[in-house]
Amino acid sequence: MTTPIGDFVSREKNRLLTDLKDWLRMPSVSTLPEHAGDCRKAAQWLAARLEKLGFAVETIETDKHPILWAVGPDVPGAPTVLCYGHYDVQPPDPLNEWVTGPFEPTERDGNLYARGTADDKGQVFCVVAAVEALVKTAGRLPVNVRFLVEGEEEIGSKGLTKFLTAEPDRTRADAVLVTDVHMVAPGYPSVYNALRGIVHAEIKVRTLKKDLHSGLYGGAAPNAIETLWHLLEQLKGPSGTIRIPGLYDRVKKPSAKELKAWKALPVKEKGFTKEAGARSLAGEQRVTFLERIWARPTLEVHGIVGGFTGQGAKTVIPAEATAKCSLRLVPAQRANEVAGLLKKAVKKYAPKYADVSVEILSASDPVETPLDAAPFAALDQAFRDVWKRGVSPVRSGGSIPIVGLLQQRKAPVLLTGIGLPDDGLHAPNEKLTLEQLWKGIPLFARFFELMAGR
Ligand code: BES
Ligand code: MN
Ligand code: MN
Repeated sequence: MTTPIGDFVSREKNRLLTDLKDWLRMPSVSTLPEHAGDCRKAAQWLAARLEKLGFAVETIETDKHPILWAVGPDVPGAPTVLCYGHYDVQPPDPLNEWVTGPFEPTERDGNLYARGTADDKGQVFCVVAAVEALVKTAGRLPVNVRFLVEGEEEIGSKGLTKFLTAEPDRTRADAVLVTDVHMVAPGYPSVYNALRGIVHAEIKVRTLKKDLHSGLYGGAAPNAIETLWHLLEQLKGPSGTIRIPGLYDRVKKPSAKELKAWKALPVKEKGFTKEAGARSLAGEQRVTFLERIWARPTLEVHGIVGGFTGQGAKTVIPAEATAKCSLRLVPAQRANEVAGLLKKAVKKYAPKYADVSVEILSASDPVETPLDAAPFAALDQAFRDVWKRGVSPVRSGGSIPIVGLLQQRKAPVLLTGIGLPDDGLHAPNEKLTLEQLWKGIPLFARFFELMAGR
């Protein structure tokens, strides 16, 4: 059976792909100051596209990268859907592991490869293409559509937080559609009922005025890296349990019903281990791997900076060492509270001979997004119509810092997407499966129609 939207996709595929590639070529890496201009260009690219579709676009300045706010044509009496996503991307390194350049979008075996294909330009593009398909086939949108697309998601959404705190009414809507997550497995459309929060921190240790000769002083002078590893070992031992007093006080156990539902999902420990590229899994053995990544707090060290790491040999006792790390938080932990607990624990474990400091880089609360409001039924039906399967309720271990604030005016938040688990977010050779993109356009178009009650 052909549909007007389906015909539109078959007809316009090539042009849509060319357009998406243009956007992906812009290296909008939010964390690197030298790419600020590219971030701005990526925002402008989307602004121009939405303007062509009849949207009134506002570019809102922040301390870093602009926020895009776009209001579609007024549809009197119809509900309002607010669509959120981000145009910023993670740094592309390690560059030598990309088969084709991160900002040279390339099609290969049914996938489109480039940084930002799945996270999150490709998914934002898909929703915008659904809007375009409706405008160009039916001549109008069935609902009031707004876009809120930011350029600081990957660095903690500080600008957008400030904006939505000052102007909470921007979040007034009948549904907030957040397309920045993926399906739990191919063929299994998903909607998320919780995301983890995050506290990003740098722990710095100084033990000496300056680096010292490791022969002349070794054995007696305090080594900063050694002090740091003992400290980290205090914070989290091999059992996976984090020894920050009070950390688990607010951790809510998933309901028996939820745990049972997770068992029925098509993701199993063996497959997950393989996908992770590990021989076996680590962490808290008494809970299942899904509970570990979705419902338990974590402490991960991202990198240790200090000492001599250059080529060759240098016998030195490092005076300073830093651990870049983050805690992921689960309902109903509070990010600011956990940041305080971390600082207190570090102080407690720090030896007297060292100066130890903790700098908090960002903090965002975990969120729960209950799935009982009417728009979830519309999303479920849209997936049934297009994907031939309704949505599975899942969680993710990842974070989207702004979701808590998107809920401030009580609009139900729908976390969903057309990405797949193996898209390689934040990793080399990130991709979007093109079939998912082409099906996503009729999917979101159908969702808008169902929101209007059609
Ligand atoms: N889109 C991801 C988060 C995500 C991916 C959630 C897949 C669920 C499923 C987002 O862009 C992301 O990477 N967030 C960062 C936020 C942090 C840097 C503040 C994260 O989770 O590390
Ligand atoms: Mn994302
Ligand atoms: Mn991301």
